[in-house]
Amino acid sequence: MASVPSLSASIQQRVSAALAAAVPSAAGADPLLRRSDRADFQANGVLGLAKRNKANPRELATQVVGALPADDLIADVEVSGPGFLNITVADAAITSTLAARAADDRLGVPRAQTPGITVVDYAQPNVAKEMHVGHLRSSVIGDAIVKILEFGGETVIRRHHIGDWGTQFGMLIQYLIEHPHELDHAADEAQAGEEAGEEAMSRLNRLYKASRTLFDSDPEFRDRARRRVVDLQAGDPETLQLWQKFVDESKIYFYSVYDKLDIEIRDADIVGESAYNDMLVETCKLLEESGVAVRSNGALCVFFDDIKGKDGEPVPLIVQKADGGFGYAATDLSAIRNRVADLHADTLLYVVDARQALHFRMVFETARRAGWLTEDVTVKHLPFGTVLGKDGKPFKTREGESFRLVDLLDEAVDRAAAVVREKSQDLTEAEIAERAAEVGIGAIKYADLSTSLGRDYVFDLDRMVSLSGDTSVYLQYAYARIRSILRKAGDARPVAHAELPLAPAERQLGLLLDEFAETIAQVTEVYEPHRLASYLYALASAYTTFYDQCPVLKAEGGPAMVENRLFLCDLTARTLHRGMSLLGIRTPERL
Ligand code: ARG
Repeated sequence: MASVPSLSASIQQRVSAALAAAVPSAAGADPLLRRSDRADFQANGVLGLAKRNKANPRELATQVVGALPADDLIADVEVSGPGFLNITVADAAITSTLAARAADDRLGVPRAQTPGITVVDYAQPNVAKEMHVGHLRSSVIGDAIVKILEFGGETVIRRHHIGDWGTQFGMLIQYLIEHPHELDHAADEAQAGEEAGEEAMSRLNRLYKASRTLFDSDPEFRDRARRRVVDLQAGDPETLQLWQKFVDESKIYFYSVYDKLDIEIRDADIVGESAYNDMLVETCKLLEESGVAVRSNGALCVFFDDIKGKDGEPVPLIVQKADGGFGYAATDLSAIRNRVADLHADTLLYVVDARQALHFRMVFETARRAGWLTEDVTVKHLPFGTVLGKDGKPFKTREGESFRLVDLLDEAVDRAAAVVREKSQDLTEAEIAERAAEVGIGAIKYADLSTSLGRDYVFDLDRMVSLSGDTSVYLQYAYARIRSILRKAGDARPVAHAELPLAPAERQLGLLLDEFAETIAQVTEVYEPHRLASYLYALASAYTTFYDQCPVLKAEGGPAMVENRLFLCDLTARTLHRGMSLLGIRTPERL
């Protein structure tokens, strides 16, 4: 398990040293190295340096070239334009760097030297409610971020802040008390699985609708429902027991959806709004005593100089309503106290819809003022955009309702089945079903993850399951094709041969393979999984070019060349597999 310095890091270090040798005052100056089409890398740092030293940039560039050590890394350097350095890496250096990656289980990706504790708040559906497409993004993005951070060695605490508390439970519980058999189901009924999940949701839906109708039409029921909220908040055992029934029933449903989504949710990580109930009074008391929050028309509010409504009036964060009820903000503030003081987190991430941006801005600022978020704690809302229909409007049914997430998932799997069936005639029905799930769910996840977080995207299943273009299916095919070559290789093994010259397509593929670790480092730093997705797409595309231009098993350069190409194939497959699994997407061995 060794971290492998990338070619670009090694070159960066050589050019830095040469800059400092040419101009001693330039020690530590950035050579501004980047990948380039003209050579492998271009360094532009000489220009600024020449300017600062009133030197001729081309002369200085020539001096820097002279100061570069003659070693095995750089094959050629050329001064171009006003003073750029065009650098070509030696083929042998590419192959041996890749060999070092291949020798490591982690493909040379280092672990964090000082890992911290990050709480990720994601996948937060609401009890007794159907999951819709908005819950998809939080779940898929959050799951990828968790996996990527954990791969980097970070201690990750997952928090599914489910909506399991609030006034609507008064109505539901009261209705259940008055209609006690509504949530009953046969004792022998399976408590898990897709069917159980669907049945649980349909019972909850029925109950929700019936109680809502009664609530809207019967003022006496409304009163009883309101009193039930008070009982719930006071912790009345019978009320709590019925509330728990709703939560348990909903969990059966959540698990079935997450199972279909191929996302692992653990019971211990489901810490919903209700979990902070005992802290709410104290949270308010601390805010009021410290003066961070003040009473305004009976409500406990926090004000901000720079947050005003359209009318110019300040918009406060309401921590406690005038009727004494606590809202979403009080819960989130209490959750911060718990996550920092009890869980010892140094980073808090919230994978939540962009429409909640103002809420989080106010909550974070309040927590800073209260001293619950100290300077050592990083807190970030990772806001994601909206899923749109083909008409460019938020993705809704014609009746204006949200699509049920399960229906969308089922449809994706159906479409994928058609694609799989057409591509591979020799699969059994069971195999088709398995692949279709991997392809269909992968397609939905990839379409989501390949879009940069803040952007909206159109939910277009035709595009998502397409074999060409920037889709997971394209990546999965690239992977499966490589695995098939490796199976057909017979006795030939993947072996790196650094003595062999590389064809242009091999160099391009090799240079990209070497960028995996840096891509992971970047994604970890900025929490942007789409950068990993676009890296993997570039890699699969480079592989396709390689595959077109460089015969593998029939390579004409003899057995060593076959082995070296198999080596490139194998490392590409492993990199695709690792990268896709960090995104939560399966890579079937055959397609
Ligand atoms: N349950 C909320 C929703 O469906 C999202 C919760 C987000 N997390 C939080 N800590 N507020 O919109």
